[in-house]
Amino acid sequence: MKVDVLLGLQWGDEGKGKVVDVLTPRYDVVARFQGGPNAGHTLEFEGQKYVLRSIPSGIFQGNKVNIIGNGVVLDPSLFKAEAEALEASGHPLKERLHISKKAHLILPTHRILDAAYEAAKGAAKVGTTGKGIGPTYTDKVSRNGLRVGDILHNFEAKYAAAKARHEQILKSLNYEYDITELEKQWMEGIEYLRTFPLVDSEHEINGLLKEGKSVLCEGAQGTMLDVDFGSYPFVTSSNTICAGACTGLGLGPNKIGEVYGIMKAYCTRVGSGPFPTELFDETGKTIRDLGHEYGAVTGRERRCGWIDLVALRYSIMVNGVTQLILMKSDVLDGFDTIKACVAYKVNGEEIDYFPYDITEGVEPVYVELPGWKTDMTKMTSEDEFPEEFNAYISFLEEQLETPIKIVSVGPDRAQTIERYTEE
Ligand code: GDP
Ligand code: IMO
Ligand code: MG
Repeated sequence: MKVDVLLGLQWGDEGKGKVVDVLTPRYDVVARFQGGPNAGHTLEFEGQKYVLRSIPSGIFQGNKVNIIGNGVVLDPSLFKAEAEALEASGHPLKERLHISKKAHLILPTHRILDAAYEAAKGAAKVGTTGKGIGPTYTDKVSRNGLRVGDILHNFEAKYAAAKARHEQILKSLNYEYDITELEKQWMEGIEYLRTFPLVDSEHEINGLLKEGKSVLCEGAQGTMLDVDFGSYPFVTSSNTICAGACTGLGLGPNKIGEVYGIMKAYCTRVGSGPFPTELFDETGKTIRDLGHEYGAVTGRERRCGWIDLVALRYSIMVNGVTQLILMKSDVLDGFDTIKACVAYKVNGEEIDYFPYDITEGVEPVYVELPGWKTDMTKMTSEDEFPEEFNAYISFLEEQLETPIKIVSVGPDRAQTIERYTEE
């Protein structure tokens, strides 16, 4: 068997959580392979709303195995809060959630370092989620990190050494902080973590594939936030692209099957960094209001703009996307016309590829399409799609040279329409 991978193609918050939940009944296993509690994946069903941060979005659908892979960075105190809230709402997860011993731990001092580095950058700050993601991945790559497996053996000494090293750095930055409460909760989180199956997830996942089990890998963030291919340095610190599923779970590239690429019918971004199609006018505000574009975890306002097909073509290329999922088109239901950026103008020259640097001087070239002016939120089949909407998705498929297989018309699990069902 192969694994299918589901990834965000923009700057995150495309709706990954919702679609993983919808697709989970078709799989035996759901696995997260990168990122950490910087993610906020929202699911809605039966009138309830849940936001997941480190726990895979397959946790609500029956008795599936959910895996937190080695590529994830885990904060024990945030994990405890998230898991306990789920259990309290009637969703037991203890035996179904397996955690890689090779996943790296986010320490309380990583969070403080995140804040200190951001403060030191001043106006050039990344606008991180403040969860310690960058410092934790830095320690991983510089071979100073602590892993989940470390809690099983001689942990106190390892923790003390890592903390002392961080304290030295914070001292050199003259950064004032109080770690007491953070550390107390973190230690409680470590004890809680011990009650879960801590596994060698690379053996587990490859073994399950050999047995014929099907696996869905859930990406976090989005391709434009990838540390190699995103809008560097305004990115996260992991590989959010499809290759991240190989390194973040221990899978060979020949194990990758379908690659689902998720995109909104427009575009959003949280935090700093370039965003060529950003709207600063009433239209941007309307999209924000209608799309409820506020961070799922931080509540931060998301910057909004038109769909960027230049960036999407690039994302599709670096991920090897085989099928597209279009989210939140319902937000544009009332618009007279809808714009799509098909090229960039750089120094007066029109280009249709994503350039090295999009920081300055990139002017979007738009095509304007007729809106469908129809409430699509109650539709259940593609047969009900208005003519203009069909024309819009055909245009996107042509531009992106990839089929759109799923259209999401609202936040609820039920508001999901599959296309080409007779295939
Ligand atoms: P993720 O990080 O990719 O899982 O996405 P988020 O959960 O951060 O943000 C997506 C937001 O859009 C959430 O509030 C979802 O409930 C909501 N959402 C998902 N799909 C749709 C859709 O098709 N239409 C509308 N209106 N909202 C949606
Ligand atoms: P999901 O999985 C949107 C952004 C932050 C910041 C940059 C670096 O919900 O799509 P970090 O804390 O990772 O060091 O911040 O990345 N960012 C996200 N934006 N959705 C996310 O996750 C994000 N995770 C990180 O806002 O600009
Ligand atoms: Mg999100």
